[in-house]
Amino acid sequence: DYYAILMAGGVGSRFWPVSTTEFPKQFHDMLGTGETLIQRTFFRLAKIIPKENIFILTNERYNDLVLEQLPEVNQQQVVTEPAMRNTAPCILYAGLKIQKENPDALMVVAPSDHWIEDEDAFIKNLEQSFIECSKKDRLMTLGIKPTFPNTGYGYIQYDTENEVAIKKVAQFTEKPNYETAKEFISKGNYLWNAGIFIWSVKSIVMAFEKFQEEMTALFKKGINTYNTEEENGFIQENYPLAENVSIDYAILEKAENVYVLPATFDWNDLGTWGSLYDKLEKTEANNAVVNARVLPHNASGNMIRTTKDKIVVIDGLQDYIIVDKDEVLLIYPKSKEQNIKEVLKKVKETY
Ligand code: GDD
Ligand code: MG
Repeated sequence: DYYAILMAGGVGSRFWPVSTTEFPKQFHDMLGTGETLIQRTFFRLAKIIPKENIFILTNERYNDLVLEQLPEVNQQQVVTEPAMRNTAPCILYAGLKIQKENPDALMVVAPSDHWIEDEDAFIKNLEQSFIECSKKDRLMTLGIKPTFPNTGYGYIQYDTENEVAIKKVAQFTEKPNYETAKEFISKGNYLWNAGIFIWSVKSIVMAFEKFQEEMTALFKKGINTYNTEEENGFIQENYPLAENVSIDYAILEKAENVYVLPATFDWNDLGTWGSLYDKLEKTEANNAVVNARVLPHNASGNMIRTTKDKIVVIDGLQDYIIVDKDEVLLIYPKSKEQNIKEVLKKVKETY
């Protein structure tokens, strides 16, 4: 049977000031389509996975937001974390929970905040991966053809020996530095990790047993409580003790049975204002505008988002992010958008 775990515990700090710790980007309608990112992701997965088999993994502070935005989900499907420990602990915990309910489950792990245009192609890729994982002990990911040396992604070097659709991964490298990323891209047989994983619960639990012994022992200690009333007590006490590490570092860089299917859909992880700009339709002057009414003169390449109907007059400004939200107004060059995380820290220290 097919299951999904939807990861929705990140804070999306590079989308400040719209995305905040109280209300992160996955709960916003970033694309201006009338649906929030988590709603879009949920309905995309529901095309192939029974709704009651879709689990939402998130920090406990977002529990009510999830239930509000996804009324078709019941409380048992929202797996809440009492502390932020990145993606490895929550994937293991959810994997063990699902395994207890259904030892033969196949699951997809999907981020809640990505943009995928061709949903039919996505579903086909998913189906192909599920079938593979039902037959073999494989950890699968979907690979995206890289276009520039982005240092925020995982890089997948695949074997070119055999002309097969699903390729064996030779080496997985999470977030290389710029020089390394450039070298990878020049070589050709590298893909970006889309952060979408497919495996059987059996395979992923085995991988954790092998590469994350301590974490596995920690979560297995309470396995009798899973899916019972005692679960919450166990998790409150033990979850914070897990190491803070992503699935990429914890498992994918280490395992030998990682495989990749080159994705046949367009993908964008909507990680920054610039990536959002790329995906939005542009105005005549080539600005991307959400909510605002803009009067541009000699101004293009700007990403503008304000409170509803705000009039923005700009003259002589190229490639900037202009975002206002409540008491904050951000005017920042797109080329430096990776620094917004740091800027936010400074703002918090200063004001
Ligand atoms: N439940 C939960 N708990 N979810 C979390 C947590 C957590 O503690 N931390 C992050 N997430 C969610 C985020 O909301 C996001 O949907 C997903 O997990 C991935 O986390 P990111 O923080 O966005 O990871 P990343 O962008 O740095 O890197 C990952 O994604 C890239 C593609 O977008 C890696 O898998 C890279 O290898 C990959 O290229
Ligand atoms: Mg991300």
